[in-house]
Amino acid sequence: MPNSTPHSAFRLPLLLLLLSLLSLLANISTALAAHADDGDDILRLINPLIGSTNGGNVFAGATRPYALAKPVANVDGQNTGGFATDGSKVTGFSAVHDLGTGGNPSLGNFPLFPQVCPQSGDDGVNSCQFRIGDRAPHYVNDSVVAEPGRFAVELVSGVKAQMTSSEHAALYRFEFPTGGGGDPLVLLDLTDLWQSRQNASVSVDAFTGQLKGNGTFLPSFGAGSYVMHFCVDFHGGDVRDNGVWVNNRAGTEPKSLYVTRGFNLFFVEAGDWVRFQNLANNTLTARMGLSFISTEQACNHAATEIPKPLTDFDRLVSETQDAWRQKLSPISIKAGGASEDLQSSFWSGIYRGMISPQNYTGENPHWDSGIPYFDSYYCIWDAFRVQHPLLTILDPVAQSQMVNSLLDIYKHEGWLPDCHMSMCSGLDTGWLERRRRAAIIQDAEVEPLEWSYQGRGGLQSWKSLDYIPYLDFDPLGFGTNSRSVSRTLEYAYNDYCLATLAQGLGKADVYDKYIQRSTNWRNIWKEDQTSAIQGNDTGFKGFFQPKYMNGTWGYQDPIACSALADFCSLTTNPSETFEASIWQYQFLVPQQISTLISLMGGDEEFISRLDFFHTSGLADISNEPVFSTVYLYHYAGRPALSTKRLHTYIPSRFRNTNDGLPGNDDSGSMGAFVVFGIMGLFPIAGQNVYLISAPFFEELRVTHGVTGKTATVRVVGGFDPAYANVSIQSVTVNGEPWTRNWITHELFTEGWTMEITLGAEESAWGTRPEDRPPSRISGS
Ligand SMILES: *[C@@H]1O[C@H](CO)[C@@H](O)[C@H](O)[C@H]1NC(C)=O
Ligand SMILES: *[C@@H]1O[C@H](CO)[C@@H](O)[C@H](O)[C@H]1NC(C)=O
Ligand SMILES: *[C@@H]1O[C@H](CO)[C@@H](O)[C@H](O)[C@H]1NC(C)=O
Ligand SMILES: *[C@@H]1O[C@H](CO)[C@@H](O)[C@H](O)[C@H]1NC(C)=O
Ligand SMILES: *[C@@H]1O[C@H](CO)[C@@H](O)[C@H](O)[C@H]1NC(C)=O
Ligand SMILES: *[C@@H]1O[C@H](CO)[C@@H](O)[C@H](O)[C@H]1NC(C)=O
Ligand SMILES: *[C@@H]1O[C@H](CO)[C@@H](O)[C@H](O)[C@H]1NC(C)=O
Ligand SMILES: *[C@@H]1O[C@H](CO)[C@@H](O)[C@H](O)[C@H]1NC(C)=O
Repeated sequence: MPNSTPHSAFRLPLLLLLLSLLSLLANISTALAAHADDGDDILRLINPLIGSTNGGNVFAGATRPYALAKPVANVDGQNTGGFATDGSKVTGFSAVHDLGTGGNPSLGNFPLFPQVCPQSGDDGVNSCQFRIGDRAPHYVNDSVVAEPGRFAVELVSGVKAQMTSSEHAALYRFEFPTGGGGDPLVLLDLTDLWQSRQNASVSVDAFTGQLKGNGTFLPSFGAGSYVMHFCVDFHGGDVRDNGVWVNNRAGTEPKSLYVTRGFNLFFVEAGDWVRFQNLANNTLTARMGLSFISTEQACNHAATEIPKPLTDFDRLVSETQDAWRQKLSPISIKAGGASEDLQSSFWSGIYRGMISPQNYTGENPHWDSGIPYFDSYYCIWDAFRVQHPLLTILDPVAQSQMVNSLLDIYKHEGWLPDCHMSMCSGLDTGWLERRRRAAIIQDAEVEPLEWSYQGRGGLQSWKSLDYIPYLDFDPLGFGTNSRSVSRTLEYAYNDYCLATLAQGLGKADVYDKYIQRSTNWRNIWKEDQTSAIQGNDTGFKGFFQPKYMNGTWGYQDPIACSALADFCSLTTNPSETFEASIWQYQFLVPQQISTLISLMGGDEEFISRLDFFHTSGLADISNEPVFSTVYLYHYAGRPALSTKRLHTYIPSRFRNTNDGLPGNDDSGSMGAFVVFGIMGLFPIAGQNVYLISAPFFEELRVTHGVTGKTATVRVVGGFDPAYANVSIQSVTVNGEPWTRNWITHELFTEGWTMEITLGAEESAWGTRPEDRPPSRISGS
């Protein structure tokens, strides 16, 4: 979503999907080779610059799968992921980033900035530029090289930079222009991307030029603060002099510095610097280790992961590339003539899905449970829809570790997080009594004091009134008291997922209670509500509306918070729906879509609402809540219309270009939407349901990381890469006819083979009532 502001609790669907995996955990590694169509190197098709401008906010730099170290250039333009191809200026190179976060930029701590200072008389080192506003040059547009494991760029100052990384350390090569006059200088800046630094310390070793230090920073979303440590060694030249700098002045004494926030939280730019002489080949190598534990650990990571900085660059690049080949190895495709651009969107989407969450095992300063620890969940209310379902298929071992790690966070912090980054979520002191409760039951029953980051607000009303009221009276906890419509819909689905879990565990009483609550969405359906656009009635009657505590209806224009009206977030124009309109949220009843269809007047009416939504400008493909609406035709018995709708968005809005994402990638969500679209399968998160549509490639195979079995989705009887034939005529699974328009996760765990015959005309396949996806709650 464009703005990272707290949403309501939506962890259950994710957990439900993932908990089922825990029992499957085993130690099976996959030893296949990822391959594209023609068997050539898959990495050639990965374009890390997709979404690097126009709000995609991707991380375009070098990283290993889920690794902490993520070096890239930081710019002063769209810098949420560090770098953007927006022609802005480079402020430095830093080694920690997040992918696809909206709102504030995240991390970007401890940037290095290389420059050649003019030869000067009295000024000495003060001929160099220190502050961001003074020092930052443009980059040369055509010089950007981004590939898995390597990022390179040339600055208009003539300095060329390239970078690669190991798990916890980055390696930079700075090549300085010849004949620049003065000696090359590299400074380290204590300013992170969004100037959240509180206090920080740096020191420089007078003889070796080694830089060490730490800083306390704020997470770009969430409460609390975190401390990060670094350790930098330089190789390739002689140290001429060094020291610290503050504002735009520097000196060779002292050799260390402590900065803090002063009066009125005054922020000062500061850091340390080293100047060099006699560089071999004008090239300086800088190795930076990072740690959340200690400076020693940062130095240790650097020395053990990159023992020979001068010769390790190519080794690291190829190790990183091998790590990606290994990660992608469970997947293979036969494109069948589909364009290379589409193949790039596919592989790049998978790649971006494995950049965050980040594996901080051994780096959590607050506890060490001896199990893998992941962080940088940013944010689960988006990522649960398609990114985590994609990891569930492609990397179930990692996904299980992430789930375990979320439960571990619950155990130690008292709540499952909505969003968790840099070790920070909410502050909570009362966790001891609560840790014995099952994590998700607690979520449904106990309101946290601060429910913007975790848990649910309005639980008193939810339990007594069976909806979240407009202008709720909620003295139990604090959060932004808006979103009564979207929270009612979400809490109902949360309770459905909880009920499903209880059913699986054989707890009938728990099931009965929550399945009842999962129907609460009906309490805010106002059957005579109409909707007009600029005075013209859309012709549809019946919409969700806010309802006061006394049962009287409030009012929110159904088109409010859509692209046809104003943007709404928690802070900008807070409304009864979050970041999307009532038009969008009217489709968010994944547990009872057949009931919703009846309320809307039947299949035809439901289909015309979907069509109107997608063609009137009300649908916003740049934000995750819209994803499932592309496929809801399945529930009205018209799966062919879902595929047709999908083709109006892919590839037109998801392309292999720098501006090729419609919106914020949100930890890889936009990429995962494309990947599922191309596979011809769409996950209904929280249910064992994948909707079947026509694949964009002739064949896809996925080998399961735990069972080792290979699922195959194949178009038979002719594949048309021009996509004139995208209507499913018939399907077989393991050779038997398959009439349902959906399939279950066993496709992947059991390695089923699904064969699809396509044609130009819509067929009867998947249209019968009994072939629609489950969407009915028995007895209601
Ligand atoms: C570099 O690219 C940016 C963004 O496309 C553009 O605004 C700028 O004019 C380009 N600069 C040059 C020198 O071409
Ligand atoms: C540094 O800042 C943090 C957060 O503001 C604060 O908790 C801590 O006490 C400070 N440490 C020092 C040594 O000033
Ligand atoms: C940061 O480094 C300074 C100087 O070495 C040290 O005094 C301080 O304890 C460190 N802070 C943390 C949180 O480790
Ligand atoms: C300098 O460059 C030359 C030519 O590319 C190369 O052979 C040599 O190894 C380089 N020296 C160092 C120290 O990197
Ligand atoms: C995360 O890191 C830990 C420690 O290195 C490792 O045991 C674990 O397998 C890693 N997880 C993944 C998914 O790579
Ligand atoms: C409203 O309807 C009138 C008459 O059909 C049409 O001319 C006008 O363009 C419509 N306005 C909008 C905003 O759709
Ligand atoms: C219910 O409460 C709302 C908001 O306070 C008020 O406008 C409305 O008149 C009340 N309805 C009744 C029937 O009292
Ligand atoms: C498209 O489907 C039609 C049948 O609807 C079939 O005759 C034709 O051969 C198919 N085209 C391709 C390229 O598969």
